[in-house]
Amino acid sequence: MKGVILAGGLGTRLNPLTKVTNKHLLPVYDRPMIHYPVRTLVEAGIRDLLLVTGGNNAGDFLRLLGNGSEFGLKHLNYTYQAGEGGIADALKLAEHFADGEKVCVFLGDNLVERSIRREVEAFQRQPSGARILLKEVPDPERFGVAEVEGDRVRRIEEKPAHPRSRLAVVGIYFYDAKVFEILRPLEPSARGELEITDVNNAYLRAGVLTYGVLEGWWTDAGTFPSLLRANTLVAAARDRGESFP
Ligand code: G1P
Repeated sequence: MKGVILAGGLGTRLNPLTKVTNKHLLPVYDRPMIHYPVRTLVEAGIRDLLLVTGGNNAGDFLRLLGNGSEFGLKHLNYTYQAGEGGIADALKLAEHFADGEKVCVFLGDNLVERSIRREVEAFQRQPSGARILLKEVPDPERFGVAEVEGDRVRRIEEKPAHPRSRLAVVGIYFYDAKVFEILRPLEPSARGELEITDVNNAYLRAGVLTYGVLEGWWTDAGTFPSLLRANTLVAAARDRGESFP
């Protein structure tokens, strides 16, 4: 399985912090934000990584991460997303890199406390389709929200005003190579972006979407409150003597 980290966008929700730099280069406690997804993927055994960047300061990623030797990698792949087409649009750029293999797509502003190795292994065993990760949160209206019944996902809604559950869709997704066919006909949503929720719903309709519930804490870091929360959670982990995440 290959890893695709999405680290483009203009980070407008963090203006003016993102006026002269990319959101994923901002600090989260003792590391730049982009270190967390790289470390989580490498820890889970995914070593073939593509970083999709865009917007301002794309060159800084190369200076910061180089060939990934700091993370125990021999090589790191990069590509550039022009414009603000959203998560699903950025993923299109990974088609050549994926080259028919399964991918783990990781939003560059998502941080998790624990290893995702078991989820990676679960998707490796899954013959085809997709797998999403869910986490109960107090503010589901900020996220994609899933309604589940037993081991089946019934519905996913993007930022619903009246969420049907508290299960947020985490920004870590597992897809087979069909994802690139699913992406082609997608149309922009009301916010002018291709939505990853539309991709997940396409797999759901095809009956090949599985889910796991994430253990440990999870947070995004793309708004002021969530960026502060990410810093606080990592600080507490360091206080407990934990070097991961
Ligand atoms: C995106 C997805 C959303 C998901 C979230 C996780 O939201 O659209 O479904 O729950 O990431 O961080 P965005 O950060 O683009 O608003």
